[in-house]
Amino acid sequence: MTTRYNVKKKTSVLPRVELVVLFWQKDHLGLVGKDKVFVEKMLARVLAKGEANEQQVVYYPQNEKARTVFVYGLGDNPTVDIFRRGVAAAAQFAKGTAVREITIIVPENFKEGFEVGVAAVEGIELGTYQFAKYQVEQNKINQERSILEVNLLVGKGLGASVARGLKTGKIYSDAAILTRDLVNEPAKNTSPSDLVTVAQGLADKSKGNIKIEIFDEKECALRKMGAFLAVAQGSTHEPYFIHLVYQPEQKDIKQELEKIALVGKGITFDAGGLSIKPSESMETMKCDMAGAAAVLGIFSVLEKIRPQVIVHGYIAACENMPSGSAIKPGDVVETQSGKTVEIRNTDAEGRLTLADSISEALKDKPDFLIDIATLTGACVVALGEEVSGLFSNDQKLAEEFMVAAQKEGEQVWPMPLVSDYRSLLKSAIADLRNISLKRWGGAITAALFLENFVGKTAWIHLDIAGPAYSEQQVNPVNPVGASGAATRAILRFLRDLKTKKE
Ligand code: BES
Ligand code: MN
Ligand code: ZN
Repeated sequence: MTTRYNVKKKTSVLPRVELVVLFWQKDHLGLVGKDKVFVEKMLARVLAKGEANEQQVVYYPQNEKARTVFVYGLGDNPTVDIFRRGVAAAAQFAKGTAVREITIIVPENFKEGFEVGVAAVEGIELGTYQFAKYQVEQNKINQERSILEVNLLVGKGLGASVARGLKTGKIYSDAAILTRDLVNEPAKNTSPSDLVTVAQGLADKSKGNIKIEIFDEKECALRKMGAFLAVAQGSTHEPYFIHLVYQPEQKDIKQELEKIALVGKGITFDAGGLSIKPSESMETMKCDMAGAAAVLGIFSVLEKIRPQVIVHGYIAACENMPSGSAIKPGDVVETQSGKTVEIRNTDAEGRLTLADSISEALKDKPDFLIDIATLTGACVVALGEEVSGLFSNDQKLAEEFMVAAQKEGEQVWPMPLVSDYRSLLKSAIADLRNISLKRWGGAITAALFLENFVGKTAWIHLDIAGPAYSEQQVNPVNPVGASGAATRAILRFLRDLKTKKE
């Protein structure tokens, strides 16, 4: 069931609904007349101080317009992301009750209607997301308990821009939800050929702006993707390389469109190979295709967002399994670039598949390349489960990306490409080793490994190992499981590129 969103003015008559969501920071609600009196009476019952992310529920007598009021603190420095979290928390609360309609009072602090609209719909859609398809009872409850109606009470003059934001935010949410669904799905249903089916479906459903090429194992061998195939060789599933292209309808033929490459790590299950993982570390390794899932999520909505840029997507999809045919520690492989790699640890497989993906991407001469990968546990140690590591050889590009990510409430932190550590990847018998000589700085040495294949192309490497998948909810926008990391940040980044050109 889909939720209906209504944008309304702040009059003095609150609609008759079951739940009102208030954002509380002193009195920035902008209410008038009877509503103001009602809300002030109500706030007198709240013990919360209105600090950022503080929440409280107040039940009001039967005969009042709203029976339940959910208060969420904005704190002294209100941001649109706190608003998004508040909406998500309220929606989660509503989902646990019989509430079908909620009214959100948008505080006067927020002057950018578009951002409010995006955040509101993302809060609802992403906050109430649950991967319940394999839970018979929960699945039924979810159908019955979906929120049907959301009223947004907005300040003067914001109606149209909020409505625009709602539309865009719904598209971003749909993309992130596809990413989440693919990551949450057990690995047995997301084999390399299953990812091909999903990608092919996107191209088939497109209005003609999305094209696809699929390379099977033989074609990958002809293209000399030695590192990718080395990782794949231990699995019974055939590897596939997926190449998607989005080409906008060009209004002005003379204008040269910017070309962007998105490379997603697509390890459909990472057992570690012969350098097998301890069982606990393996438990959630179905998530190791989260970068690829982000690329697919993004492509699923490009025709709706219509950025005036060409977007290429590349996914080397395979499993990393131990078996009699698996690659062995000490083996040397030749990458497509011609550089050879001594594989010392078969669990450092992502950088191998990415190396060949990046080389393949560079053939199309992108203006810049973003790779998205659940690459290292070390990045999770460094930044935790809420923050992705960003490595880049182009500071301006990195800064623009960080701004876009922040608008979506995705936390990304810059990490250094420490040139002193390059020597840690030297091999005695090949051009490179796939792991560092030392255990420290693993997120950095992994990024430095990739740097060898990027050349002079402007590049961002996103290590999403932390945020891609978490079994504990910290931020109400991201319930347990896959978060859809990088999907919305990249969509927002593409949109902002487009806006700049206009
Ligand atoms: N897929 C893992 C990284 C990972 C860890 C993703 C935790 C999500 C959560 C990657 O392939 C891996 O195994 N990396 C190794 C590298 C090491 C062998 C140098 C790691 O981080 O331990
Ligand atoms: Mn691994
Ligand atoms: Zn991996």
